[in-house]
Amino acid sequence: MSTSPNPQPNQRQVSFYEAVGGEPTFARLVAGFYEQVREDDVIGPLYPNQDWEGAEQRLKWFLAQYWGGPQTFSANRGHPRLRMRHVNYSIGLPEAERWLELMRNSLDRIDEETMPPAYRAAMWDHMERVAQMLINRAP
Ligand code: HEM
Repeated sequence: MSTSPNPQPNQRQVSFYEAVGGEPTFARLVAGFYEQVREDDVIGPLYPNQDWEGAEQRLKWFLAQYWGGPQTFSANRGHPRLRMRHVNYSIGLPEAERWLELMRNSLDRIDEETMPPAYRAAMWDHMERVAQMLINRAP
């Protein structure tokens, strides 16, 4: 029996983005998050309220791109430079914690079949790290 250099020629790499359901999953996650942000007393006021749809779209593009989906964020917004893009918003620990809390609520609404625990943990880890990095005010 000869050994093929590519034993599974039909098996292609599936990105994280695809593995968790692609666009509809990211759309749900971000919609569920912004639904709460709009009403939130701590972080709601930071968002330019003329443009909730735009804000939702930008976060969706960013997360989808980060997790291996289409490069729509870069195509429309250029390099992410998230820290720079958040300097005009006063973000202390309370704001970061609230952001994470609302995102956690939305993530929890996505069923385990769509988002298995290991994927959820990976997304959560990234969000915690980014939120921490975006703190630009003490306390
Ligand atoms: C730490 C708490 C955070 C606060 C208070 C916060 C607040 C904001 C605000 C007020 C905006 C402007 C909304 C708009 O696009 O019009 C924004 C934009 C954005 N945020 Fe955050 N954010 C936080 C954390 C995060 C995290 C953890 C991520 C990513 C995992 C993130 C990703 C983004 C992206 C991609 C944009 C759009 C940037 C652009 O294209 O201009 N943010 N954020």
